[in-house]
Amino acid sequence: MADRFGEASERAITGQGRFSVALSGGKTPVGPYGEIARIGRVIDWKKVHVFLVDERFVPYDDERSNYGMIKKSLLDSIPIPSANVHPVATEGDPLRSAEKYESELRGFFAGSRGVPVLDMVVLGMGEDGHTASLFPGKPYSVDDGHLVRAVGPDKEGLSRITLTLPVINRGRLVLFLVTGAAKARTVVRVVEESDPALPASLVRPVDGKPLFLLDREAASMLRPDKTE
Ligand code: 6PG
Repeated sequence: MADRFGEASERAITGQGRFSVALSGGKTPVGPYGEIARIGRVIDWKKVHVFLVDERFVPYDDERSNYGMIKKSLLDSIPIPSANVHPVATEGDPLRSAEKYESELRGFFAGSRGVPVLDMVVLGMGEDGHTASLFPGKPYSVDDGHLVRAVGPDKEGLSRITLTLPVINRGRLVLFLVTGAAKARTVVRVVEESDPALPASLVRPVDGKPLFLLDREAASMLRPDKTE
């Protein structure tokens, strides 16, 4: 994960002078984000922009805050300018927050007609096959032109703000970080069966396939030819 981050940031900064990455929350990426901070000495952080894949509608110091986790595990350990970090506003009205985040994204990508093409999107996956804050049983495949939407309440009763599939699927490098035996069956349903009932299966980057970074337990039910 850290190597992929280093490669992708170098490629983007060399090619276009900046690197935009959207990071997910949850528990899985905490270690890998720390690893990125450790290799970070070779990254030109002034040219890196960090966005959120999704956010829970809680204060940043709430232990459930994705921004709070990313700040603790990565941002506090690297010399990235604060103007380069784009958290989601989590006070007031979730719908308004989603609109504001969408216009921030469109503004950042104004050069590409406001259509965000993130250089890297880091996703997690729940046992239920959700990714970002796109949960099973909702009509996500529809491309209604929105880049960001407010969804919820989730299982904890929280509103969430999330990037939509069209934004995720335009990412140049889209990768999943999945660990643990509990997700092994869901990994098969997504990687081998592309089960459309699972939002993670709907992540189909326009320039290729998503990359799955799995630990041995999460990959344990995959056919051997599917893993390297
Ligand atoms: C979130 C994440 C979510 C996460 C999965 C996996 O806000 O929680 O964006 O999509 O990636 O729920 O979470 P774990 O890494 O904690 O298993």
